Amino acid sequence: MKYIISGTDRADSNSLKISRYIQSLYKESGEDVGLIDMRDIRGELSQGPHYGKDQPASLQAEIDKVVKSDGLIVVCPEYNGSMPGILKYYIDHMKFPDSFEYRPVCFVGLGGMFGGMRPVEHLQQVFGYRNAFIYPQRVFLMNVHKVVKDGALVDPLMQDLLKSQVKGFQAFCKALKSAGLDANSFIAQKATK
Ligand SMILES: Cc1cc2nc3c(=O)[nH]c(=O)nc-3n(C[C@H](O)[C@H](O)[C@H](O)COP(=O)(O)O)c2cc1C
Repeated sequence: MKYIISGTDRADSNSLKISRYIQSLYKESGEDVGLIDMRDIRGELSQGPHYGKDQPASLQAEIDKVVKSDGLIVVCPEYNGSMPGILKYYIDHMKFPDSFEYRPVCFVGLGGMFGGMRPVEHLQQVFGYRNAFIYPQRVFLMNVHKVVKDGALVDPLMQDLLKSQVKGFQAFCKALKSAGLDANSFIAQKATK
């Protein structure tokens, strides 16, 4: 299963609304995609970082989803020119190298006039450094406060860009999998050696 990572735990988050919209687009195309919500890991922050050791069950559950996923769709808002801290915290708790290596990933940014381009490019550096397969077509939702109204994305151009990304990312993941090049195939090959 693919997972959408909604990149913040902020109340009434636009990222979560967009993530749900993207989830509905996958559903319309016949694919069930899961959602990882950063609000489900923030309870762990008060216990301090774990970095792979004795991680609380709820954090571990959200990390395990990534290791088994067919692909990740990261929806990231711009906070002070970068990604929200909770998203980086989550990434830093993921299992290395299995979470990242050859894992197909695509990005959706949201923010003001640059539509979250900066956090997406920071994420591309992080996932690129960790050898993920980055899908090249990124989507930037500019002026997010104008294009999300009453919980819905109302801009037709941005809807079309997301629909096109869904279609392309599905084909990208399928092609990698059929060639045995995706993360899950790689992990399975390692296990048989
Ligand atoms: C803490 C914080 C910092 C922000 N910094 C920026 C910024 O540097 N650039 C920008 O374009 N928008 C910035 N914004 C606006 C957000 O990108 C925008 O409000 C977006 O909806 C936030 O995503 P969220 O609703 O999922 O939290 C910031 C918002 C917050 C809450």
